[in-house]
Amino acid sequence: MRRPLVAGNWKMNGSQAESSALIDGLLEGTATVKNADLAVCPPAILIPLVATKLKGTGIAWGGQDLNVNASGAYTGEISGPMLRDFGCTYVIVGHSERRSYYGETDEIVAGKYGAAQQHGLIPILCVGETLEEREAGTTESVVARQLDAVFNKHGIASFAKAVIAYEPVWAIGTGKTATPQQAQDVHAFIRGKLRALDAAVADKVQVLYGGSMKPSNAAELLSQEDIDGGLIGGASLVAEDFLGIGRAAN
Ligand code: 13P
Repeated sequence: MRRPLVAGNWKMNGSQAESSALIDGLLEGTATVKNADLAVCPPAILIPLVATKLKGTGIAWGGQDLNVNASGAYTGEISGPMLRDFGCTYVIVGHSERRSYYGETDEIVAGKYGAAQQHGLIPILCVGETLEEREAGTTESVVARQLDAVFNKHGIASFAKAVIAYEPVWAIGTGKTATPQQAQDVHAFIRGKLRALDAAVADKVQVLYGGSMKPSNAAELLSQEDIDGGLIGGASLVAEDFLGIGRAAN
């Protein structure tokens, strides 16, 4: 049985005061979430604050991106060892916003995935199709291509220490959620692809859903066989909503 993971992607949101209040709210209600692990991925500049507040609690934290290099002349960048130094467990790689706004190719994402693991972080590898790709009937081939870039570089065994997030781009921040069946179909496709390479790894890897997930639709999504949690954007900025999604796994 895979234990669900509910991870918050705060994106570029939050002051110190807001983040501190949000964490306090999560800590107050965390005991009500019994059947899911919780994690938050704040903007890098807020990681020290979040790490200080979450240390020794059951809530993990992570980064939203990392540079492929461990250190050096890469102005503005954050490395895997830096994230580890601040106690991060996870790091998101290949989010669709990074792929589309910052030109991250499958190859670049695969490099970041490897760098994360090399430095002891669990990558949350995001995959997903745009609306045009879905309407053209290419959802599976797009997701397959995004996964293959990582399989080819790092092998199936690497997924024993990784999380996958299926985030249909058309459902991110739009209020338009994939139906539980639409999501389950792609999740099953992803797991099937893994299973063809290594059944044990396929059974173990958490495949999260992301895209307008909220307390009102979480239970139905999380009850699907191959959906093992969520990567939450907007709703992760409101403690009660994020906790409500966690409780939907109870
Ligand atoms: P929303 O939950 O705001 O749709 O964002 C999803 C997402 O992109 C999480 O990484």
